[in-house]
Amino acid sequence: MAAKARVSLTVLLAAATLACLCAVAASASAFDVPSVAFEERFSPLFGDGNVVRSSDDRSVRLLLDRRSGSGFISSDYYLHGFFSASIKLPKDYTAGVVVAFYLSNGDVYEKTHDELDFEFLGSRWGGQWRVQTNVYGNGSTSHGREERYLLPFDPTLEAHSYSILWAPTHIIFYIDDTPIREVIRHPDMGGDFPAKPMAVYATIWDGSAWATDGGKYKVNYKYAPFASDFSELAVVGFRADPVLRVAHRHGARQADLLGLMTADYAVMTPQKRAAMRAFRARQMTYTVCYDAVRYADGPFPECDNSDEERESFSAWGESKTVVMRPRARGRRRGRKAGAGARVPPADVSSS
Ligand SMILES: *[C@@H]1O[C@H](CO)[C@@H](O)[C@H](O)[C@H]1NC(C)=O
Repeated sequence: MAAKARVSLTVLLAAATLACLCAVAASASAFDVPSVAFEERFSPLFGDGNVVRSSDDRSVRLLLDRRSGSGFISSDYYLHGFFSASIKLPKDYTAGVVVAFYLSNGDVYEKTHDELDFEFLGSRWGGQWRVQTNVYGNGSTSHGREERYLLPFDPTLEAHSYSILWAPTHIIFYIDDTPIREVIRHPDMGGDFPAKPMAVYATIWDGSAWATDGGKYKVNYKYAPFASDFSELAVVGFRADPVLRVAHRHGARQADLLGLMTADYAVMTPQKRAAMRAFRARQMTYTVCYDAVRYADGPFPECDNSDEERESFSAWGESKTVVMRPRARGRRRGRKAGAGARVPPADVSSS
């Protein structure tokens, strides 16, 4: 009885999440934050010729070809904030290609850097990108905190927004207006919670060594150039000196933080948490929180374990297949993806 009730609740929540993701697809930015022109906050980082700015300077195309990947970086470092971009990923065969949107201070702190990542891992099947999030603090690279998810839409057809809220107390990753991961700072995390000013980066690069099926499928330059479009660049952050670690606006820190902490993207309402749980139960294929093989001593202190996620993680895990709405009916090509690959339980094609 109870189990049955829970299943239908899950389906309902999944449908609700999907409705949200669809509803925002029309407007690229999910939150009411002002976007900036590239030049206001960013500059090219590498692969200069492969950083192609639109004539109005409000969007940028990053290219990967045989010659080079490319990337851009914010002109400033920020201590906390909300960072967002609408991204349309490269089409067709993209095995080995990695697109990333992230915060880092690795250029300033070689051994003790902080990082918050969205990484997009290309695939052999057009549109079936995987998304990975990760959190590092104070050089905690020996214990990665990655999670991977499938997307309930084709990220190569139109832009969707990917956002990172970084507050002193918690971190939230969003896809459109759906929170997909929340990291609440736990005292036992110690330095693992990012705490030094970081810059904003966007890159595209050749990740042949690991990106697709652990490096089995490399970048095929027959399909180059690979183009990723970034628009609606939004930075609501507090500029800070990366070395002195102090905010540029002296004295305003408390007011700034209050503004950040009370903004809608920083507040986790019960509805948002339900949408997050539904997304994770359906779309997550990997999380360190349930990986007892890699972390035998138990999960990280901040892990908020959910029975539903754990069940779905062990039942499907990385063998989940992409079921996107346009090709969900009939064609289920994902079934061929490998031994044990199965189609997830609920049907996302309705609604
Ligand atoms: C960060 O790492 C450095 C070097 O390992 C260490 O000395 C320092 O105490 C750490 N800071 C925090 C906040 O854990």
